[in-house]
Amino acid sequence: MTEKSKADLVIRRAVAQDIWPAAKVHELAFPRQTFSHDWLDCVFRSFPKSQLFVAERAGEIVGLIFWTEKSGFRKEAVVELEQIAVHPNKQSIGIGTQLIMQSLPLVAEKIAERGAKLGHVLINTRVDNYSQELYRKTLGARPAAVVSGLFTADEVFMVAHNIDLAKLQTKNMQKSK
Ligand SMILES: CC(C)(COP(=O)(O)OP(=O)(O)OC[C@H]1O[C@@H](n2cnc3c(N)ncnc32)[C@H](O)[C@@H]1OP(=O)(O)O)[C@@H](O)C(=O)NCCC(=O)NCCS
Repeated sequence: MTEKSKADLVIRRAVAQDIWPAAKVHELAFPRQTFSHDWLDCVFRSFPKSQLFVAERAGEIVGLIFWTEKSGFRKEAVVELEQIAVHPNKQSIGIGTQLIMQSLPLVAEKIAERGAKLGHVLINTRVDNYSQELYRKTLGARPAAVVSGLFTADEVFMVAHNIDLAKLQTKNMQKSK
C-alpha cells in the first residue's frame, strides 16, 4: 500500500452509525455466517470486553476488525483477534494489514487505562485461509493447534506470545519501505 493510499484510509473505533455498513462488509466477506448486523451490534455493545474498529475510505466503510478479551479482565490481557473482514472488492491491497496494525495499539491503550497490559493474542481461522500469513506477518503469530469438527473445515488456532507493539511496528514499517 502506497503512502498516499495509506493516508486515504482511516482506521478508527466504530460508532453506532457504522454497524449497518460494517455489517454489509461482514455479510459479503463471510457468506456462511448469518445476521451480520445483530452479530456486530452485540460486539459493539460488549465494549470494552470487545473492541470494534472500522476501516473507512472516501466516506465508505471498507473493513472491520474486532478484538475480544478472554477469560476475564486480567492484569496481562489475553486478547483474541476475533474477526477481521475487508470488502471483497478491496481485498489484497493492504487494508487488512492496516486494520491490525492501527487498531491493536488502540486496544492496548484501552487495556492500559485500567492499569493492565496487553499480553498474548489468539486467533483462529480455517486451515485453508491465507489470513494465517497476515497474522504471521503482522503479529508474529504461530500455529499452536488444529481442531477438527468445529466449523466447515479444520480450524487452526494461532498464538502471538507477549506482544511487543514497538517491535511489531518497526518490523512492519521496515517491510513497507
Ligand atoms: C483476510 C482478509 C481480512 C485480509 O485482508 P486484506 O486487506 O485482503 O489483506 P492484505 O492486503 O493486508 O494482505 C495481507 C497478507 O495476506 C496475504 N494475502 C492477501 N491477499 C491474498 C490472496 N489473494 N492470496 C493469498 N494471500 C493473500 C498475503 O500474505 C498478504 O501479505 P503481502 O501484502 O505481504 O503479500 C480479507 O482477505 C478478508 O476479508 N477475507 C474474508 C474474511 C476472512 O476470511 N477473514 C479472516 C478470518 S476471521
